[in-house]
Amino acid sequence: MSRTKFIAGNWKLHLTRAEGSALASAVAAAVPAGVDAAVCPGFLSIASVAQAVSGSRLKVGGQDCHWEEKGAFTGAVSAGQLKDAGATVVILGHSERRQLFGETDATVNRKLKAVLGHGLIPIVCVGETLAERDAGRLQDVLRTQLTGGLAGLSAEHLPTLVIAYEPVWAIGTGRTATSAQAQEAHAFIRSVLRGIVGDLADRLRIQYGGSVKPDNARELLAQPDVDGALVGGASLKPADFNAILAAAA
Ligand code: PGA
Repeated sequence: MSRTKFIAGNWKLHLTRAEGSALASAVAAAVPAGVDAAVCPGFLSIASVAQAVSGSRLKVGGQDCHWEEKGAFTGAVSAGQLKDAGATVVILGHSERRQLFGETDATVNRKLKAVLGHGLIPIVCVGETLAERDAGRLQDVLRTQLTGGLAGLSAEHLPTLVIAYEPVWAIGTGRTATSAQAQEAHAFIRSVLRGIVGDLADRLRIQYGGSVKPDNARELLAQPDVDGALVGGASLKPADFNAILAAAA
């Protein structure tokens, strides 16, 4: 089953609007044929970045959203507002949201439904901590996050679903999963997805995330179930991100 590789950059809490537009323009000019690519700026830069890359193949995404469309939710941003600003992708359930902002599988599920309702592409993040891996709980954790995050949804709702496998111990640490560890987790995730969406599981993309760099991207992306990457630190450097895009081509 051939799946188009999808590389997404998660800019986290970095870059001004001007810096973001410059970086996104440099990336947009380098997206190789046959590779899907996105950058996910902070909320305030989404509109300006989307404008800077309009007409290119580079997608723009949010890093989170609220599940409600409107109302008394001070500080929140809705999926509809992200779409209005030019986003076509939304990251959900990133481990930093889970660890620092109280995100749960239940809130991921509500947000996912809002994102799908607007026709946006969701990137749902899952992954274990080092303590969970060491305790032999990898599969348990991934199964719980997937079944909770995707609860109540089936193949008809999820044709664009992207999962990002991000072992928490590999995020921002410079310590990446080996390609064998990534492949093992991705194959397991696909088997869980098969139980939820049936044969669609063969067409859904599973990104790897956690210290993806130009020098490890090629080997990770060569694994049969690794269909792309969610890139943090290296997405802030145009040369590095473009090298990862090239590795996916
Ligand atoms: P990293 O971040 O590439 O800096 O490890 C990945 C992520 O958090 O999505």
